[in-house]
Amino acid sequence: MYSILKAEALASNIYLMVVKAPRVAKHCLPGQFVIVKADEVGERIPLTICDYDREEGTITIVFQPVGASTEKFTRLKAGDAFEDFVGPLGRPSELCTEDLEEVKKKRILFVAGGVGTAPVYPQVKWLHEHGIAADAIVGAKSKDFLILEKEMEAVCGNLYVTTDDGSYGRHGMVTKVIEDLAAEGKQYDLAVAIGPMIMMKFCCLTTKKLGIPTVVSMNPIMVDGTGMCGACRLMVGDEVKFACVDGPEFDGHLIDFDACMKRQQLYKTQEGRALLKLREGDTHHGGCGNCGGDK
Ligand code: NAD
Ligand code: FES
Repeated sequence: MYSILKAEALASNIYLMVVKAPRVAKHCLPGQFVIVKADEVGERIPLTICDYDREEGTITIVFQPVGASTEKFTRLKAGDAFEDFVGPLGRPSELCTEDLEEVKKKRILFVAGGVGTAPVYPQVKWLHEHGIAADAIVGAKSKDFLILEKEMEAVCGNLYVTTDDGSYGRHGMVTKVIEDLAAEGKQYDLAVAIGPMIMMKFCCLTTKKLGIPTVVSMNPIMVDGTGMCGACRLMVGDEVKFACVDGPEFDGHLIDFDACMKRQQLYKTQEGRALLKLREGDTHHGGCGNCGGDK
């Protein structure tokens, strides 16, 4: 069992938990994720790691309830525990694994949308700890949905906060701020955009126009998180990839976001999975055991 040391609401319908998971905390790096199960019969929920403390042996997760399982998470308090807390899964962010001197030469812009601020934070923090000041745009629907502003401010070079309704910070979506910064003369060698798929799609369209290579973190439906079930299959250029083992980060300019969003919807029903099996052939593993697409 994995004890919950802290559980609090961060913003409207967005929750933070600090969980005792020493082995995950010892090995994880920014960009990786965990799969969490509340109890024996609970659904397996993938959540990106928002922070970690190797000495305390803790992992911080941030989530937004979207179904019965994550709704159950919101009822857990400090002192309760998760049945399973598996990780670290996926590949760490390349920024944390490539040659540090090369990373230092890059002018990096992070673009965080809503709950996507949670996986952006550990990357910016890691860079800050290694003497690199990256800029970041954080976007939220309105002030009530904004998270981790102080934490981001402490580790960013420049932080640009924006709200869709103009209730706080700049006014408009994150894509508008990317364009405004370019118009103000800011130049970047790399963008990292993390948030809802639709936001990553439009960020990539914007950065492509501006000629800024862009990394995105894909969060399709996941079941096993180890490359076995095929749920998280996606196309990157003309290559088949599995977000859980090949990602979650990919070159955003090579992703067909419309196809990914369509697949998300199809994967939710048995009929849809059977259709995917027809289309995806051998690369549709269907091995989750309840997929139906493998039959
Ligand atoms: P949201 O809908 O509030 O959007 C956040 C921000 O993204 C907006 O304020 C806006 O600036 C930008 N945005 C949204 N739509 C846009 C568009 N069409 N064009 C340009 N910019 C746009 O986000 P939310 O409710 O916090 O997000 C929830 C979603 O984020 C869930 O679907 C969840 O799965 C996903 N998520 C993804 C990751 C990841 O790793 N990619 C991590 C956490 C959450
Ligand atoms: Fe990636 Fe199963 S979740 S293959």
